[in-house]
Amino acid sequence: MIDLRSDTVTRPTAAMRRAMAEAEVGDDVYGEDPTVNLLQEKAAELFGKEAALFVPTGSMGNQIAVKLHTKQGDEVIIEERGHIFNYEMGTPAVVSGVMIRPVRAANENGLLTWAEIESAIHINQPYYACPTGLICLENTHNFGGGSVMSANETSEICQKAHALNLPVHLDGARIFNSAVAQFETVANLTKDVDSVQFCLSKGLGAPVGSMLLGKKDFIAEARSWRKRFGGGMRQVGILAAAGIIALEESPKVLHLDHENAKRLAEGAANIKGIKIDAEKVQTNIVIFDVSETGKTSAEICSRLKESGILAIPFGKAIRMVTHYDVSRDDIEKTLGELQKILET
Ligand SMILES: Cc1ncc(COP(=O)(O)O)c(C=O)c1O
Repeated sequence: MIDLRSDTVTRPTAAMRRAMAEAEVGDDVYGEDPTVNLLQEKAAELFGKEAALFVPTGSMGNQIAVKLHTKQGDEVIIEERGHIFNYEMGTPAVVSGVMIRPVRAANENGLLTWAEIESAIHINQPYYACPTGLICLENTHNFGGGSVMSANETSEICQKAHALNLPVHLDGARIFNSAVAQFETVANLTKDVDSVQFCLSKGLGAPVGSMLLGKKDFIAEARSWRKRFGGGMRQVGILAAAGIIALEESPKVLHLDHENAKRLAEGAANIKGIKIDAEKVQTNIVIFDVSETGKTSAEICSRLKESGILAIPFGKAIRMVTHYDVSRDDIEKTLGELQKILET
């Protein structure tokens, strides 16, 4: 199977499996797992943040941040297609008692400008509006097609938010893709955010795990909330060992996934009926419109599946995500199959 549904399908590398087998472990709920502690130290250092916490999933990292930055009845501003809003099971409402204020970015890439955020902020409106408690950004923006926000854009939003005493959380599930695409450091991209979550388990290839980073006090509180969420794990150094390799080795090869995504987008743009601007593909996510092909996205995906290719239909579009288990040959085969389905 050529699995282009997501970069979450990556399997651990041989080096990760070896490290997992040999990992030194302890009880992490007591803070005694040396491999987890090492991973947390390495992540904090790389991002230039005071502290880091290993959490089982990106969703948990994001939702702990939402919980800690807000109080019940607050509003959280996020781009309308953002993951925290659409794909985390309503947890902001269920756990934090907050409302989401979705804002549609004018740009199809899903990246909000300060002007767009500002127009949705509610402060000093007692008895009417829910006060804004948090701004959430997403870099790369998944459903904006893996688009990247620059360090300057991020810092500008943070500084303006901070001037209004509003914190900013970054869902940086794929922040390393963003950094690689922009020849930037993850520290620069996240310099002014109050907290950031990134995933070890997506393009970086670890089997499980995400990191939440921020100030020391914030991460100490996050530890308690991780436990409340049921995420206090024991000899979890087994997983952190793979995370360390993901953190240190995987960013070096992410550019290959981006090159494959670009080739996929360029090839798809030449197939009858497919609409995509390949210029706009910056990282490993390719979303193309198939509404003018005469077939639905579901039909196309089901035909691809018969040829051993998996992709996800999203309304009138199809999403394909490249990762290290997808080769250039797989991309060429996918393009060939798409052409067969749509042009013959
Ligand atoms: C942008 C983004 N944020 C957060 C997550 C959540 O990660 P997890 O699946 O580990 O909960 C995902 C997962 O696909 C994602 O794409």
